[in-house]
Amino acid sequence: METILIVDDEKNYLVVLEALLGAEGYEIVTAIDARAALATVREADLDLVITDMKMPGMSGMDLLEACKKIKPDLPVIMMTAYGTIELAVEAMKKHAYDYIQKPFENEQLKLTIKKALENYRLVKQNRLLTEALSDRFRYGNLIGKSKPMLEVYDLVDKVSRSKASVLITGPSGTGKELIAKAIHYQGERKDRPFISINCGALTETLLESELFGHEKGAFTGAVAMKKGRFELADEGTLFLDEVGDMPPSLQVKLLRVLQEMAFERVGGTRTIRVDVRVLSASNRNTKEDVQNGVFREDLYYRLNVIHIDVPSLQERPDDIPLLVRHFIQKFHAGDTDDAIQLSPEAWKALYAYPWPGNVRELENVIERAVVLHSGAQITVDDLPEELIGAETQFDVERFIPPDIPLQRALEEIEERLVRRALVRNANVQAHAARSLGITKSLIQHKMRKYNIAV
Ligand SMILES: Nc1ncnc2c1ncn2[C@@H]1O[C@H](COP(=O)(O)OP(=O)(O)OP(=O)(O)O)[C@@H](O)[C@H]1O
Ligand SMILES: [Mg+2]
Repeated sequence: METILIVDDEKNYLVVLEALLGAEGYEIVTAIDARAALATVREADLDLVITDMKMPGMSGMDLLEACKKIKPDLPVIMMTAYGTIELAVEAMKKHAYDYIQKPFENEQLKLTIKKALENYRLVKQNRLLTEALSDRFRYGNLIGKSKPMLEVYDLVDKVSRSKASVLITGPSGTGKELIAKAIHYQGERKDRPFISINCGALTETLLESELFGHEKGAFTGAVAMKKGRFELADEGTLFLDEVGDMPPSLQVKLLRVLQEMAFERVGGTRTIRVDVRVLSASNRNTKEDVQNGVFREDLYYRLNVIHIDVPSLQERPDDIPLLVRHFIQKFHAGDTDDAIQLSPEAWKALYAYPWPGNVRELENVIERAVVLHSGAQITVDDLPEELIGAETQFDVERFIPPDIPLQRALEEIEERLVRRALVRNANVQAHAARSLGITKSLIQHKMRKYNIAV
């Protein structure tokens, strides 16, 4: 329930307003002077202050200024008597949310209050997300607080303390490279190089010389000795991106290097020894490639001592608001005070879209929207066409493992829906419950059942 503090030195007004607004479902607190009001502002969890302008002692204007010092975001609506419009203008300059003239129309007052509360809810949601970004829900540069991402953090944390090879798989744009970097920079090798190479982007001969280096004159064009990535990564980490695309002949050579940590440069005879931690990534189904004989089984087991499988963005909608906030901050140079908001329709479109390009696609969409938007809001007009009108398609095959009992599957879906409703409603349980069409006590029951804390 939202709580409104009403301040007026005329007791009659307090009584009338308390009855009027109490009937609207708000919790009403009153104060007969500004000093008492200020104490309440300090102590209570208020959502709105409505204050008379002219009061003996401390005036409404002074109260406004004091409130803004204590709780800058808390909206304050001023009540002014007829003929003191200049005061109202001054109050607006001092960041009053709005003003109303006495005597007021009930409907107009209610509407102003509703707008102020809605606006405050958005501001709070925004602040929650910004705070969340700064600590709990990030790991290195990784953003996300969904269950699957928390599991990824957990694995990253464990493997960063070891030297074990890690294979990171997942669809394109899900953050595999970012995870590889997180493993490196959380671990003991963080002060040594992180070297990466895209095994899918080079021809076989070029890839070989890039990996192992070459001696001068090894082939036409080898005018000088060149160290390979394995040498450059000595005592650090080598990240083999798109490892599934590596040609078979090189797979053999790579296997030997991984086993012995020794190799020769192309065209050379001297054995070079290194100490390299190998991380690799693939958006192919490497296991299937092994079964089809495209990828060597022995190499697969070498690379895949630990496996991290990154879920698609569609499988973790809880991460969308945090990522959006993060990318807005990244692309918007302004400070957080005038942070860009998204219209409710824009949020809806982001949730409904299936994100085939995953986080990379979301990042591009937000970068574009930050450039295009005008005013303080990103609206659907700032989003690419394909996002508008996308219907959510719930793909059971993808989200629910086969052979799981029906009851368990339904609970799985229910938990996701409850979590999503909370995220979308800034953790306001009453609103989340309403969006799901259930009572507040039922949503609380389900939160306990699924261990959801807010
Ligand atoms: N969890 C995340 N938090 C913040 N940014 C992310 C996250 N995941 C991905 N990104 C961003 O999305 C973009 C794509 O990430 P990355 O290059 O790591 O994906 P990838 O899985 O390696 O993709 P590909 O398979 O196409 O190579 C990058 O700009 C990255 O910073
Ligand atoms: Mg990548």
